[in-house]
Amino acid sequence: MSTPLLEVMDLVKHFPVKTPQGKGMLHAVDGVSFRIEAGETVGLVGESGCGKSTLVRLLTRTLALSDGQIRFLGTDLGLIDPLRMPSHKLRRDVQMVFQDAHDSLNPRYSAHDTLAEPLKLLAGIQDEAEIRSKVEEIATLTGLPLELLPRFPHQLSGGQKARVGIARAAVLRPKLLVLDEPTAALDVSVQVLILQLLADLKRELGMSFLFVSHDLNVVRLLCDRVLVMYLGRIVESGPAAELFASPKHPYTQALIASIPSSGRDVSRDLLPGEPQSPIRMLASRTVALTQGLERCGFQGRCPHASERCASAIPELQALSPLRQIACHHVSTIPAF
Ligand SMILES: Nc1ncnc2c1ncn2[C@@H]1O[C@H](COP(=O)(O)OP(=O)(O)OP(=O)(O)O)[C@@H](O)[C@H]1O
Ligand SMILES: [Mg+2]
Repeated sequence: MSTPLLEVMDLVKHFPVKTPQGKGMLHAVDGVSFRIEAGETVGLVGESGCGKSTLVRLLTRTLALSDGQIRFLGTDLGLIDPLRMPSHKLRRDVQMVFQDAHDSLNPRYSAHDTLAEPLKLLAGIQDEAEIRSKVEEIATLTGLPLELLPRFPHQLSGGQKARVGIARAAVLRPKLLVLDEPTAALDVSVQVLILQLLADLKRELGMSFLFVSHDLNVVRLLCDRVLVMYLGRIVESGPAAELFASPKHPYTQALIASIPSSGRDVSRDLLPGEPQSPIRMLASRTVALTQGLERCGFQGRCPHASERCASAIPELQALSPLRQIACHHVSTIPAF
């Protein structure tokens, strides 16, 4: 098998937290594995707080991992000194568009300065004329009018800031572009333009995308493959067309049934209750077991849950070469 562009193995991120009961660990990313091949667009979906942003920030090393491995074209990113990471040559190849375009832009940098920074810092280009030409080229490609380049973030609209964020990430023509909800804060008409831009960039530059979104319709349109995350773990993955047509995991079934255009009865109470807390108290394994912590994260909300779901975490298993699911009852769950 050829080396994948990105290979993530058993990735873990725990945040130490204080609760009224004492010290605990918040399991934001709890043993995640997946691959992305060159040229693939992969969608990452799941409800708010399930760990999507934490996962993608680990991939770009803007957050230190607690455990696991991230291999990019075979190189273990975890072995690179975090202090060297911002200027490491691999950073050119993995770029990120952050969830909030406004917060991610330096208020003291004009749009031109923002786009010029990676060219100077990561590509080592110092010639001002060359920088200007590359900045103008990416601005044109991302539909950012050149007269906006001298402006600062507070002088730009939300859609224009989103374009600056995407242009900054694309200016070095990375092999992998990680986009964390790039359209969430925008109104629908601007969202459509940004999504068209992403489709154009994919076609023109041939890069791979990891696309985080709440919007399943967008993921269905834009992505080749989908990863479904629930409470820090991947619970299902597969080719987008297949996964949307026949979701297998009860959580994916509920997510897809909730799309208004799915033709399903969205009033059906498919997801009763709240997600479990991602916080686990610092406790021995025995205590963890008696506290019911070794269980499927979806157990309290799942219509098919059994005793087994309350005593063991289901591992992700292959249904076919491209299809995976983590559910104890995969063979008996009714078809969607
Ligand atoms: N620095 C931190 N310290 C403690 N907990 C954190 C930290 N960052 C994130 N978390 C927690 O980790 C969990 C996952 O958060 P994350 O931002 O990854 O979710 P998300 O899936 O991106 O949500 P959304 O869809 O709302 O953006 C949440 O419970 C969040 O409160
Ligand atoms: Mg997020």
